[in-house]
This record gives sequence, C-alpha cells and structure tokens, in this order.
Amino acid sequence: MHESVADVDALWDRFEVFEAIHHTQRICNPMNEAQLIELLELLRPVERSSWLDVACGSGELVIRAIEQGSRRATGLDLSPWMLNAGSAESERRLPAEQRPTWVLTEASKWSPDQPADCVTCLGADWIWHGMQGTIPKLKDRVAAGGIVAYGGPRLNFGADPEYVSSEFGQLETAGDVEARMAECGLRVVERIDPGEAGWLSYLERGRQDVLAWATRHPGTRAEQWIAEQQDWVEHFGRDREVVGWSVWVAESIAT
Ligand SMILES: C[S@@+](CC[C@H](N)C(=O)[O-])C[C@H]1O[C@@H](n2cnc3c(N)ncnc32)[C@H](O)[C@@H]1O
Repeated sequence: MHESVADVDALWDRFEVFEAIHHTQRICNPMNEAQLIELLELLRPVERSSWLDVACGSGELVIRAIEQGSRRATGLDLSPWMLNAGSAESERRLPAEQRPTWVLTEASKWSPDQPADCVTCLGADWIWHGMQGTIPKLKDRVAAGGIVAYGGPRLNFGADPEYVSSEFGQLETAGDVEARMAECGLRVVERIDPGEAGWLSYLERGRQDVLAWATRHPGTRAEQWIAEQQDWVEHFGRDREVVGWSVWVAESIAT
C-alpha cells in the first residue's frame, strides 16, 4: 500500500511550526544521547539488515543504524523539512550506496514491500490513533524474529489511574502497553524511561530553536510558533504528574 503525497507545498507550510521548534535537533523526543546509544545497542544494527523508521524526523536513528552495520534503511515522514535534513545529513556521513531511502508520505498510507528486520516509531503514536492502533501496525511491518521500538506516552509512575481517568480521561499505563505488545506477538526486552529531565531538556531545546528561528524569520508566523512552543511548556507543567513517556523494545515472536 503506497499512496503518494498530493500537495507538497501544503506540507512545507503545515510542518513549518515543527521545523521552527526543532531545526537544530537530530532527535525530536525526550531521550538523551546515552539513551539513544542504549536503544541502538538493544536494536543491534549489525544483525538487522533492513530497517524502517516510521515518522523518522531528521533520520538520526536510521543513519546511525547504517553507520553501525545495518545494510538497508528507510526513513519515512510527512515533513519535507525533516526529510531534507535527513538526506543532507546522510550525504555528509554516508557513502552514496549506503544512504537511507527517504519517503515523504502519510505513514498510515504506506507500508513496505517486505517486512523489515527492525521497525521503529518514536514520538508519533497519533498516526494510528494511539498505542492500541500503532503497536499492531508496527508488528505488521516487522519480519518474523525481528525487533520493534515504540516510543509513546503512558500514565506516569506513581499517578493514581482512577484519579487520572476521572480528571483527564483514559491514559494507558506501561503495563497496558506491554499487554498490547504481548497480544500482538511482541515480547518486551527493555523499556527506556527518559523521565522528567528528558522532557525539560527537550522543551528547552525547542525554546532555543524557536527563538533562533524568529530571529532569522521575523514576523507574525514566527510569533505564532513561539506561542505554540510556550503552549507545549504550559501543557507539560500541567500534565507532568500524570503523563510519562517511554520507549519499549520488543522482539517479534510467532503469533
Ligand atoms: C516528535 S517527532 C519524532 C521524530 C523522530 N521519530 C524522533 O524521535 O526524533 C514526530 C514526527 O512525526 C512526523 N509526522 C507527523 N505526522 C505524520 C504522519 N501522519 N505520517 C508520517 N510522519 C508524520 C513529523 O513530521 C515528525 O518528524
């Protein structure tokens, strides 16, 4: 299933805000460098010849996967800004024959011709309407015996699920994510928890990026992007006790 993108100009416009808030960042999620290194160690690129990163952002994960031994990698994303950054970075770091394939697409409308040995999706669970929908789609795209990494929100450790569901609505726990993985034939091998420090650092990077963007592209749009980033910070302040975020690494087993 491959559906091409009809209006690329509209995508440049739509994703400008995300670019303004992330344009210097190689990883657009709360993980720090040590956690990214740990994730790659768990995914073992040298043993996985094909990779697929769904909503790859600027492609750091697939570029590192190839640098560390994977042979073929595909990064797909709906932002032309992000894919341009990924493509430029891979030209800088990799010989032509090793560079990832970059696919500009709505992720829910694209699936690989063949399952990949490693499938990742970090920070984009809304594509399939949350983890319940996303996890089976990752399983569909991974080869038997392959590995998956899913990064998404969860109920914070220590938060009372009953209080949270009465005040904020349903928010799945880490246990719910792990149960969904088990149902879909994915055996969890590790969970990485960036914690609050990861969020604070991610938000601060976004603040600096959007201010730098506004200096370079002054005007009403840049003012809007600054306000949007401030909203993110306010949401975080409001939700910090309740919402956490983790990356789960899971092996695909026969179902
Ligand atoms: C929070 S970022 C995460 C990027 C990357 N996975 C990372 O962890 O650095 C979310 C990414 O999802 C992409 N995205 C949003 N909606 C999408 C869609 N419907 N299909 C594909 N990519 C999408 C955005 O362009 C952005 O790069």
